[in-house]
Amino acid sequence: MNQRVALTPFGAAATGSVLVPGSKSHTNRALLCAALAEGTSKLSGVLFADDTEAMLEAVRSLGAEVVEHRSELILQVTGLGGRLRFNGSVINSRSSGTTSRFILPVLAAGRGPATLDGSEQLRSRPFAEQISALRALGCDLRETRAPGELPLDIVADELAGGEIEIAADSGSQFVSGLLLAAPLYSKGLTIHLSGKPVSRPYIEMTVKVMEDFGVNVEQPNESTYVVHSGKYRATDVDIEPDATAASYFFGAAAITHGRVRVEGLHKQSIQGDIQFVDVLQQLGAKVTWGDAFIEVEGDRIRGGSFDLRDFSDTVQTLAAVAAFADSEIEIKGVGFIRAKETDRLAAMTSELAKCGVDITETANGLVIRPDKWLLRGGVIETYDDHRMAMSMSLIGLRVPGIEILNPDCVKKTFPDFFPCLEHLRPRPQQRSKVVAVVAIDGPAGSGKSTVARRLAADLNLPHFDTGAMYRAVGVAALRAGVDVEDADGITKLATEAEIEISDRVFIDGVDVTEEIRTQEANQLVSVVAANAEVRRVLVPRQREWATGLGGGVMEGRDIGTEVFPDALLKVFLTADLSVRAERRFAESSGLTLGHVSEDLKRRDEVDSTREDSPLLVAPGAVIFDTSGLSVDDVVSQIATMFRALVDD
Ligand code: DC
Repeated sequence: MNQRVALTPFGAAATGSVLVPGSKSHTNRALLCAALAEGTSKLSGVLFADDTEAMLEAVRSLGAEVVEHRSELILQVTGLGGRLRFNGSVINSRSSGTTSRFILPVLAAGRGPATLDGSEQLRSRPFAEQISALRALGCDLRETRAPGELPLDIVADELAGGEIEIAADSGSQFVSGLLLAAPLYSKGLTIHLSGKPVSRPYIEMTVKVMEDFGVNVEQPNESTYVVHSGKYRATDVDIEPDATAASYFFGAAAITHGRVRVEGLHKQSIQGDIQFVDVLQQLGAKVTWGDAFIEVEGDRIRGGSFDLRDFSDTVQTLAAVAAFADSEIEIKGVGFIRAKETDRLAAMTSELAKCGVDITETANGLVIRPDKWLLRGGVIETYDDHRMAMSMSLIGLRVPGIEILNPDCVKKTFPDFFPCLEHLRPRPQQRSKVVAVVAIDGPAGSGKSTVARRLAADLNLPHFDTGAMYRAVGVAALRAGVDVEDADGITKLATEAEIEISDRVFIDGVDVTEEIRTQEANQLVSVVAANAEVRRVLVPRQREWATGLGGGVMEGRDIGTEVFPDALLKVFLTADLSVRAERRFAESSGLTLGHVSEDLKRRDEVDSTREDSPLLVAPGAVIFDTSGLSVDDVVSQIATMFRALVDD
C-alpha cells in the first residue's frame, strides 16, 4: 500500500521562525571542490539528505577522506589533490542530478575505467548535452543502455580540455559540472554557452564556490567562461540555508496571511532561488530583509506574470500560492522543467486541478486562474518528486482533505519537511491578540448552521448565529410596517429593538424563531444585511456577545473578515450550488428545486458583491467544500483543527 500523510489545515496565520537545512546545491558543490582540493576542508551547515548522501558516497569512491560530525552538520574532507585513479569503480548517483552531472566531467579528468549510474528516475533524465561535450573533448564514453542516458562506461585518460560550445537552454547542471572539473584538465577549459541560458544563478554559484576554493573563473563576456588548469585549495565553508526549501515557508506565510522568518538567509545569498521572495513581494507580501534572516508577512495575494527561468525550482511553490490569489498568475520561461524529477508542469497541473484549481499548461509554463470558493481536497500524487510533495502540502494549510502520497520523497533534500511545516501552526502562547472564537462563514446552504451548532456542542462552547440577528431586524420591520428600503427607519429599528439570540430568537420579548425563517423574511434579509448602518449597530453587539462569554462558535458572513479577524480559527464553508440547492430544497416547502437554486444564486451575488462587508473568504481561513461530506465528517475535521490550535 502507498504511504500517505494527511494534513490538518491551520485555519490561522502561520507563525514562527524556521531553520531550514543547508543548501543542496551549495553542499554538493563544496563537497566536490573539497574532495578535489589539496588539504583538509571543513564544511559547516551541511545538508544531510539523499542528494548530498549521493555526492558524499561519490567523493569517497573517488578516494577523498570524509570525517562526519552529523549532529553538528559538519564534514571534514581531506581532498585528493588531483590524483584520480579508477579501476572499474561504479559511482551510484541515486536520483541526484547534481551528483551525476558534476561527477561525470571529473571522471573524465582521471585515469582508468569507471561507471556512472543512478536510480531509474535519474536514468531517464537527459545527459546527451554533457556526453557530447565530453566526447568532443576526446573522452571515451559509452552509454550501456540508451543514447544520452545513464548508465555510462568511461575509460578515462586525463582529458586535456580545450574549448567547447554547450547549449545551456535546458539546464545548467552540465555547465556547472564542466566548470567544476575544468581546473583538472591540463589545458583548462573555455566554455561558450549557446542558446538563452536557464538557471544562470546556479552557474554563478558554481563560480563563487570554485573561487572560495582558490580557482579563478574568467568571464570575458556574457556567454563565455574560461578556467585555467590549476588546483583547488582546501578551505572552510559555511553552507547557506537552502533558499528553495525556504520558499515553502515563505509560501506558507503568503497563503495563510501569516508571518514567517527563515533564519540564516539574506539578500546577498549566492542562491538564485532567493528571488522567489521578490515575487511574493510583488504579489503583495511584506518582506523584511535582515542581515541573517528573511521574514515574509502575507497579505492579499495579487495576480501577475512572472518569468522564473532563473529560479525554476520555485515554480511549484508559486503555483501553490497562486491557488489562493485574487487574480490570474502566469508563470513563464520554464518549459525545461519538464525534464526534472518528473514533468513538473504536467504534474502540477494535474494535482492542482484535482484540488479545484483552474490551471492550464502552456509551452513554457503555467497559467492559474484562482477561485477560492472552488478549492477542495484530494489525494495528491508526488511522482517521486520532493518538490511536488512540499508544494502541494501548502494547499493543505487551508484546504481540508489533502493527502500526500509517498511523502518520503522529501528525503531527497529535506527529510524533516513535515515537522518543520507543522512547527508553523500557531501555538496559543504566540497569539496575544487572538479571540477564542471559531468563525464560520459561508454562503447559504453551505451547512453553516448545522455545522456550527454541532461543533459548539462538541467543543462545549457557546454558539451564536449572527444571521438570525439580521433576520430578526427584518421581521421587526415587517411587524412594525417599516419598508426595508427605508434605510433610516430600519436602522432605528435595529438600534431600538431588543434582540435576543439563544436557542430561540426574541424581538422585544416576542418569540420569532419560526417567523425569521419564512419565505417573506428570506426576501427581506439581504436588504437589511446590506444596510451599512444596521451593520454598524449589530456588529459591536456580536463582538460584545463573544467577549462577554470568553469566545464561542460564531456563524455568519463576515465573522472572519469583520467581526473577529483575529479569531482563533477561521473556516469558510462552501458547497457546489447544486448541493446547496438540494439541501435548501429539502428544508423548504412549496418551491421547486429550480426556484431554490435561483434564489441561492441571487443571494450569493447580493451577499458577495454588496459594498459593506461582502461575503469573502477571510484571510487565512480554511476553505472547506462540504459537498458529499456528512455533517459528522465536517464537524470532526473542524474540531481536529481547533484542537491542533489550542493543545500545546
Ligand atoms: O445565514 P442566514 O441565511 O441566516 O443569513 C441571513 C442573511 O443575513 C443573509 O442574507 C446574509 C446576512 N448575514 C450577513 O450579512 N452577515 C452575517 N454575519 C450573517 C448573515
